[in-house]
Amino acid sequence: MKIDKLDYYGRGILKFNNKVIFVENALKDEDIEIKIIKENKKYNEAVVTKYNNKSDIRVTPKCRYYDICGGCNISHIKDLSQEEFKENKIKELFRNFYVDEYKKIEYNTFYNYRYKIVLHIKKDKIGLYKKSSNDLIEIDKCLLVHNKINDVIKVLKEVVKRETNLNKATIKLGNITNEVMLILEGRINDYSELLKVVDVLIINDKKITKKDYIISKIGNMKYKISKNSFFQVNPYITEKIYNDIGKTIKKLNSKNVLDLYCGTGTIGIYISLLVDKVIGIEVVSDAVDDAKYNRKINNIDNISFILGKVEAKINDTYKDIDTVIVDPPRNGLHKNVIEVINKLKVKNIIYISCNPITLVRDIELLKDNYNINYIKPYDMFPNTYHVECVCLLKRKN
Ligand SMILES: C[S@@+](CC[C@H](N)C(=O)[O-])C[C@H]1O[C@@H](n2cnc3c(N)ncnc32)[C@H](O)[C@@H]1O
Repeated sequence: MKIDKLDYYGRGILKFNNKVIFVENALKDEDIEIKIIKENKKYNEAVVTKYNNKSDIRVTPKCRYYDICGGCNISHIKDLSQEEFKENKIKELFRNFYVDEYKKIEYNTFYNYRYKIVLHIKKDKIGLYKKSSNDLIEIDKCLLVHNKINDVIKVLKEVVKRETNLNKATIKLGNITNEVMLILEGRINDYSELLKVVDVLIINDKKITKKDYIISKIGNMKYKISKNSFFQVNPYITEKIYNDIGKTIKKLNSKNVLDLYCGTGTIGIYISLLVDKVIGIEVVSDAVDDAKYNRKINNIDNISFILGKVEAKINDTYKDIDTVIVDPPRNGLHKNVIEVINKLKVKNIIYISCNPITLVRDIELLKDNYNINYIKPYDMFPNTYHVECVCLLKRKN
């Protein structure tokens, strides 16, 4: 069999007897022998049993858990070809739209870029889940996370050998400050070893250390991150995105900005000095508390935050808004939000998306009123098929 192209998830695609077959770990033009592992009505899934010829863009993955771990999916592709795959994925998804400009993808380091990891614990083992399952694979370290996080994993591995009632561990690291937060779920008798390697320890919502938050720095801004608040996992790319949003805001001469799905107020605060007024809306109350704290420690006074669901809080009273920034979770924008934005006739929408499939779906509902000025992809998650995008939409007429 020969692979025709890759799908959005990095799997090889080929057609046989008019049926599509998705093949794990197979690249374009590779000549392979396959075994069907799952038959569905419209498509089959297969694995490679033999490579007769391998692609030039294939590399040996650096991680020894790669074949079984569900964390990464395109580590068998050369770095720059991963970027090409992501750029093509965006162009393919937007093939039915007119886009004024496709900007080049922005990327940085391919390993040690993550400042957060969620680990599962089963009895005396800690690790990540296997591909498409809840089976645990024990790991010593993860090549995607910062080494300071791997140092904590090393200690945790020893701790779980004697503490067998833990279920989950989340580790967050502050950019520049290097502060470490560890959140444990389950029961533990002795955590003294852990206190030597973390700054903040929270066990089942209870803070053990005096402090219950860490600080991260992006550009000149400081941000408080607490247990439940979202923060981008890759600070190198986050800074590039925020700087680019700042440049766009300047170019647009934006004055009054809505920052929807604002988390800890990160983007709004970052661009606040460039505009007259920002209003942020966010549903997680801890994140809004953090946002208010962040406003204070950065000496910003032209930003306010509203707690609640964007779809419930956004309404047509925001008449003076010229620019809306939206940064929704993977499932994209709520239909009400799109409806209100369409009605408000705001001049510009800056859409930050971690899921281009829902981005396209949402733009479909905005396209009668907005042109796509540019799309810029960012490799926030190297070695995975995920791609972050910023898209500027400008009101027609
Ligand atoms: C991708 S994060 C972006 C956060 C922030 N803009 C940043 O860059 O750090 C999405 C945020 O939307 C929030 N969120 C999810 N659903 C929401 C909703 N229906 N209304 C308001 N906020 C929501 C999440 O809690 C999260 O903070």
